[in-house]
Amino acid sequence: MENLEQLIEDFIKKSSLFSCVEVHKILESTNTYLLKNNFPSGCIVIADQQTAGRGRRGRSWFSPPGKNLYFSFLLVNPPLDPSTLPRLNIVMAVAVAEALGKLGIKTSVKWPNDILINGKKLAGILIESVFEKDKIKKLVIGTGININTDHDDFTTDILTIATSLKIATGQTWDRNSILLNLLKNIELWYNVFEKGEFYKIRDKWLQYFEWKGKEVFVSSDDTTIFGIAAGIDENGFLILSLPDGSEMKIISGDVSVRRKNATGN
Ligand code: BTN
Repeated sequence: MENLEQLIEDFIKKSSLFSCVEVHKILESTNTYLLKNNFPSGCIVIADQQTAGRGRRGRSWFSPPGKNLYFSFLLVNPPLDPSTLPRLNIVMAVAVAEALGKLGIKTSVKWPNDILINGKKLAGILIESVFEKDKIKKLVIGTGININTDHDDFTTDILTIATSLKIATGQTWDRNSILLNLLKNIELWYNVFEKGEFYKIRDKWLQYFEWKGKEVFVSSDDTTIFGIAAGIDENGFLILSLPDGSEMKIISGDVSVRRKNATGN
């Protein structure tokens, strides 16, 4: 871990996005830690273990010690229009998928920002914001990647939906080098986003989107909508083709693919 801090500090010296790093053995949640404390913009917080790791839509994130990656970074007063926030999910998903791709690991993306291997979840991203009037005051971007989790570490219910790099590839991976590569990739794609070239990120994301053309269900708090996943638009919204031939844009929700049952229906 000390080695990791040094590696990241060396990288940060040349970085236009990141400014400082803290490495912890244990934290409640790296997102919560950045939200609760006052750090400078660009600060990265990494934990070996989280006692209350959080996922999207109020879910928890499985965060045992010694195996995986849990980290977040903070942007203070980013010069971003709040309407561009959904795009950031796409930016992050592309950064993670591309970083893993460079290591020869083939992943796919599930809208908006889940990273899958063989249809099971490998990584998730949680973006949280604090507003002052209608301006973004704080943006916390947290990423969790299941790296060396073994089969037996997962509870049976998580095992049906989640995987790790070790389970998927049969080998143990070096967390530090994955993290370092990922930070470089986040910076790279964030710069593309800042330049207003979201179309490049969207094109990349679509290359990883294996559910294009598939029948999906999109559920939010109280509704489930059925349709065909057609892609994403220039805001990062999911485009759904509905059975009546119309199109619907989805801003947030959980997408699941419709599986054929044994009778083929
Ligand atoms: C999701 O897919 O539901 C998002 C999962 C995000 C997990 C990461 S782990 C690091 C950071 N700290 C948290 O509490 N959550 C994010």
